[in-house]
Amino acid sequence: MSTIMTVDKIFAAYGKFKVLNDLSFDVEEGQVLGVIGPNGAGKTTLMNAICGLLIPYKGRIVFEGKDITKLSPDARCRYGIGRTYQIPKPFERLTVFENVLLGAAYGTGRPERASAKDAAEILQTTGLLALGDRLAGSLTLLNRKRLEIARALATQPKLLLLDEVAAGLTDAEVREVMELVEYLKGTGITIIWIEHVIKTMAESTDKLLCLAIGTKLVYGDPMDVMHSKEVEEVYLGVDEE
Ligand SMILES: Nc1ncnc2c1ncn2[C@@H]1O[C@H](COP(=O)(O)OP(=O)(O)OP(=O)(O)O)[C@@H](O)[C@H]1O
Ligand SMILES: [Mg+2]
Repeated sequence: MSTIMTVDKIFAAYGKFKVLNDLSFDVEEGQVLGVIGPNGAGKTTLMNAICGLLIPYKGRIVFEGKDITKLSPDARCRYGIGRTYQIPKPFERLTVFENVLLGAAYGTGRPERASAKDAAEILQTTGLLALGDRLAGSLTLLNRKRLEIARALATQPKLLLLDEVAAGLTDAEVREVMELVEYLKGTGITIIWIEHVIKTMAESTDKLLCLAIGTKLVYGDPMDVMHSKEVEEVYLGVDEE
C-alpha cells in the first residue's frame, strides 16, 4: 500500500478567521478515510483545502508526489481529485445526464473523450439511469446526493472527497448511499468521507480521523477512534463534578 496524499502541517483561514490549525495526516491509496468531528470543526474546510477552493497559508498538500498546495481547483480535478458538496450543487436546468456529461467534459481535461456511454455507465452505477432525462432541479434529496457522486465520478477521480452524502436522508436512504460507497470502494478508488453517523463510519472506513477546532484530535483504527476518550468527550461532553 502506498500513500496517495500527504497533508503536511496545514493552516487555513477564511480571511482573518483561522480554521485549520497545524493539521497533518496521510491517505493510503485504495483506502477509505473517514472524517468526523463536531459542527464547525473544519471538516468541509479541509475538503476545500484539498480540492483547491481554499489555499492554505502555511503547510503543504502532496498528491501522488506532486505539491498541489497552490494549484487551482480545476487543475487538481484534472490530476484526479473529485469532490461532492455538502449542499448538492447540480446545474438545475440541465438534465441529470447532461450534468454528468459536463463533469466528464470539463473535469478530465479531455472534452473530446467525454462519451455518452461513460456517462450512462456512471448513471447506472449511481442508480440514476432511469432519471437521465429529468431536470436535475426536480430530483429528490437522495437523487441529488447520487447526482453529486455521479458528477464527481465523471471527472475520473483517483481520490474522491465525499462531504456528508448521507446527511438529511432517511435510514433506508442512508443504507443505499452506504452501499454505493461500498461499491465504489471495491473499484479501488481512494475516498475521504465526511459524515456524522460515527457508528456507521467506524464500520465502513479503513481509518478514522476526528477533527476538533481545526486540528487532529484522534486518528487511527476506526473502532479505536470511536471508543476513544477524546471522541467521547468531544461528542458527549465531560461530566462536571
Ligand atoms: N466561507 C466561509 N467564510 C467564513 N467562515 C467560514 C466559511 N465556511 C466555514 N466557515 C467557518 O469555519 C469553521 C469551520 O467550518 P466548516 O464548514 O469547515 O465546518 P464543518 O466541520 O464542515 O461543520 P459541519 O459539520 O457543520 O458541516 C466554522 O466556524 C464556520 O463558521
Ligand atoms: Mg461541513
